[in-house]
Amino acid sequence: MEILHTAAALHAYTENCRRAGQRLGLVPTMGALHAGHLQLVQAAAAACDVVVVSIFVNPTQFNNPDDFRLYPRLPEADAALLGPAGCTVLFLPSVEEMYPQPSVLHFDFGPLERVMEGAHRPGHFNGVATVVSKLFHMCRPHQAYFGQKDWQQVAIVRQLVQDLSFDLELVSFPTVREPDGLAMSSRNRRLSTEARAVAPRLYEALEQAAAGVRSGVAPTQVQQQAAAYIMAEPAFTLEYFEVADAQTLQPVEAWEPGRSVVLCLAAHLGGVRLIDNVVVE
Ligand code: PAF
Repeated sequence: MEILHTAAALHAYTENCRRAGQRLGLVPTMGALHAGHLQLVQAAAAACDVVVVSIFVNPTQFNNPDDFRLYPRLPEADAALLGPAGCTVLFLPSVEEMYPQPSVLHFDFGPLERVMEGAHRPGHFNGVATVVSKLFHMCRPHQAYFGQKDWQQVAIVRQLVQDLSFDLELVSFPTVREPDGLAMSSRNRRLSTEARAVAPRLYEALEQAAAGVRSGVAPTQVQQQAAAYIMAEPAFTLEYFEVADAQTLQPVEAWEPGRSVVLCLAAHLGGVRLIDNVVVE
């Protein structure tokens, strides 16, 4: 596995691969890799000749300086996991390399970003769209891989790819969970033993809510019951629990036949912000 640190080196490498007729897969990450990331790398390796994994804790997508400062950074341990998973190139740029000058461009994804993460983390999707666009230009992948734990992020990147005519296929994979249901996340490493013990309550709330949706319980009631279940454990502060259309991400007020919904939440637990979601077809 090659480790590259500059945009120029990555661009030269991937352009060579393209000229040789190789298919390129890109897995953008912020590191502190877990089984969810490795599933994406393995899928990319099965579908592509060359797999580029980027690890970059992108400062422009953090609206909370402490969250950025405390985000786990484990480049050596990550590198050791990536080779066996099928990664060909690890791209590890510095902040200066990704942002030689502050970015002035601003993305507006309309209603897609006025809800949930976009509403609660001002500027977050602008930072995501900026860095993802840069990575797409530097690497020019045929396919780009994202995890569905960030359901709204996948929707935003899909819009980005469509609106800016990026010539690539977006591939997304379902959330990978711990045996007790907790969604795998790099931030889980920051949970104390006590917090980790109660963290599966989030998925339990989502599963109960999904059962409510399937049996026709009204959306507001589903939302209230889930919020009450989470907040019955005082260690949680619930930021939101939304019942949304799975495509438009707009709140669902009444059930319509054939419509898929996504149940999304964000909660704070022991100083760590966690998100999760479940899709109900
Ligand atoms: O999902 C993430 O880890 C990040 O938002 C991403 C897509 C790598 C952009 O920094």
